[in-house]
Amino acid sequence: MPDLDATVAALRAALAVAPDNLPLRLHLAQLLHNGGRPAEAQAEYKAALVQVKTALTARPADADLYEQQAEIQKMLGDEAGALVSIGIAIALRGAPPAEEPARPTPPTDGGRTTPPPARRPSIEELENDEPERPGRLSLGSGEDEEIEPEPGLAERPSIAFADVGGMAEVKEAIRMAIIYPFQRPEIFAAYGRAAGGGLLLYGPPGCGKTYIARATAGEVGARFISVGISDILDMWHGQSEHKLHALFETARRMRPTVIFFDEIEAIGGNRLDMRQHFQRTLVNQFLAELDGAEGDNSGMLIVGATNSPWHVDSALRRPGRFDKVVFVAPPDEEARRDILRLHLRGKPASEDVDAARLARDTDGFSGADLRALVDATAEEAMREALRTGKISPLTTNGMLRALRNQRPSTLEWLQTAKNYVLYSNEGGIYDDVATYLRKRKMMR
Ligand SMILES: Nc1ncnc2c1ncn2[C@@H]1O[C@H](COP(=O)(O)OP(=O)(O)OP(=O)(O)O)[C@@H](O)[C@H]1O
Ligand SMILES: [Mg+2]
Repeated sequence: MPDLDATVAALRAALAVAPDNLPLRLHLAQLLHNGGRPAEAQAEYKAALVQVKTALTARPADADLYEQQAEIQKMLGDEAGALVSIGIAIALRGAPPAEEPARPTPPTDGGRTTPPPARRPSIEELENDEPERPGRLSLGSGEDEEIEPEPGLAERPSIAFADVGGMAEVKEAIRMAIIYPFQRPEIFAAYGRAAGGGLLLYGPPGCGKTYIARATAGEVGARFISVGISDILDMWHGQSEHKLHALFETARRMRPTVIFFDEIEAIGGNRLDMRQHFQRTLVNQFLAELDGAEGDNSGMLIVGATNSPWHVDSALRRPGRFDKVVFVAPPDEEARRDILRLHLRGKPASEDVDAARLARDTDGFSGADLRALVDATAEEAMREALRTGKISPLTTNGMLRALRNQRPSTLEWLQTAKNYVLYSNEGGIYDDVATYLRKRKMMR
């Protein structure tokens, strides 16, 4: 079966890039098994078993993992082992939720009382099983303190949608979530929709996720609060739930607000990392804040961004959280032209630069790459000006010279994404990426 050979080779190549991709390995094993190559199938199943066992040492209460282990054991002929694994998975799923640890009192907010949380959402894998780790992010100290988020935290960005090239679809998704509801509240009310909500932007680096989030705030005159998940994880030692709540409360008080969470994959998904850093109570707090269980989130646009959507826990994508997921693709030719023009604005003689021509030659360039190209050209012109004492214009030739030293930075991400599209596109979550890759002829 020549087709099988080709598929197996492709899967092996993909695994060489992503050796930890368990679904990919299981898919390969299954193919080999069905294709009458039992010895090779066994080898893959054994490798997969090692992977599952390693994951289980870090996530000992992960029922999904036990189910996967059972499946593999069955394929390896270990019926008894499979039964035990299934038993554990069932027991874990049926386990009653762990007792909620006492939470610090949320800071008072001018006499407004927040209703008690309607429900306590959780990322299943995080519940029940995490031993308290001493040290980092210790909770419970200074519970009575009123915590004010750092001043200057909420900026008013000066950029708006007009400063963002391309991204028409992303702009429309954002308009639907936060701009139209303000303009036509009666229409949204009629359909029971509130302004705001959660939007997850994903895509290769430098293609404008952070930029558009800031521009959104500028567009609607909203405040912009930016939070790196690593800030919560690493910097806010102690009182972190308290601070997270204070942050959301600040955002709520300043409505309309765009609150931006970068590197959202650090929550959930890659739980091996998370276990080391993130206490489950903090995760639960984050989910409760997102769910609006801790306060009214209307009039807030909550934007999350990630380069690694495959590491984002599906619990974050449930309704009411980041339920709108938008792929931020590398800019197409027209968008590249616009981005170049935007970044050339205000530079000497920049209107003479043939942006359309440069856009044609910069396939695969991100917005950040294009900006770097303009910066490099401007720097060269400036050197010239310093030498001659005359303001030196930016030229198309100057741009083309600078281009020789630049490579598109999005292709590596697209290659990685292709593997996920091919082998773990459950529920079609990466269909937009698939369409994009086909259009680029990177995939059939
Ligand atoms: N569509 C765009 N229009 C204008 N400028 C852009 C655009 N996309 C990117 N840029 C420029 O590139 C810079 C980097 O973009 P940004 O930080 O938003 O990328 P990102 O998608 O958030 O990347 P990362 O995944 O690395 O965080 C921006 O500050 C901006 O100058
Ligand atoms: Mg960013």
